[in-house]
Amino acid sequence: MRSRLVVLISGGGTNLQALMDAPQDAYEVVGVISDRSEAAGIARAVARGIPTDVVIPSACADRAEWDRVLADAIGRWTPDWVVCAGFMRVLGPAVIAGFPWRIINTHPALLPAFPGAHGVRDALDYGVRVTGCTVHLVDSGVDTGPILAQHAIAVDPDDDEATLHERIKVEERRLLVNVVTALCAQGCTVTGRKVSIP
Ligand code: GRF
Repeated sequence: MRSRLVVLISGGGTNLQALMDAPQDAYEVVGVISDRSEAAGIARAVARGIPTDVVIPSACADRAEWDRVLADAIGRWTPDWVVCAGFMRVLGPAVIAGFPWRIINTHPALLPAFPGAHGVRDALDYGVRVTGCTVHLVDSGVDTGPILAQHAIAVDPDDDEATLHERIKVEERRLLVNVVTALCAQGCTVTGRKVSIP
């Protein structure tokens, strides 16, 4: 049976698109949630007939309520896995506890270097020659969970944030689809910071 995937997005949704476009033998995307009503990725889901929801922090009394509302919204679709695909917020305890080691995130840098919302810019500013992307399990920290897979990308001397991010995203989408497919097909075991996919 295919795994049920709920995807969280904040922006353009090209990672979501890659997940929807890949042969979905191992999983099906059963719902998409955004924290921004104007996220372009919502239209991508609608175009595929996938149900969507928007859970906006400013519509909630505080962060704790947003966390609970988001956990309920995700839970309604009874997912096997939750994928943060360009979801630009740190998840709260209700979501993390609701789906232990069942939440996957993609990040446009080689963690643990350059966590946070500006991974590409921070890597460029630092002057690294190699950066990349990381797919990892989510814990309560900011991009700190156990690493599932990484891909390195050389920084060109004339790169700016946009050109570098575009090159990273090409590999990021491929990596995310491959990891999600493997996890959905085979599951994983977490031992400390090490994850093994059988
Ligand atoms: C990705 O690079 C993701 O890692 C970052 O924002 C980008 C989202 O891209 N946090 P998209 O919305 O999937 O096109």
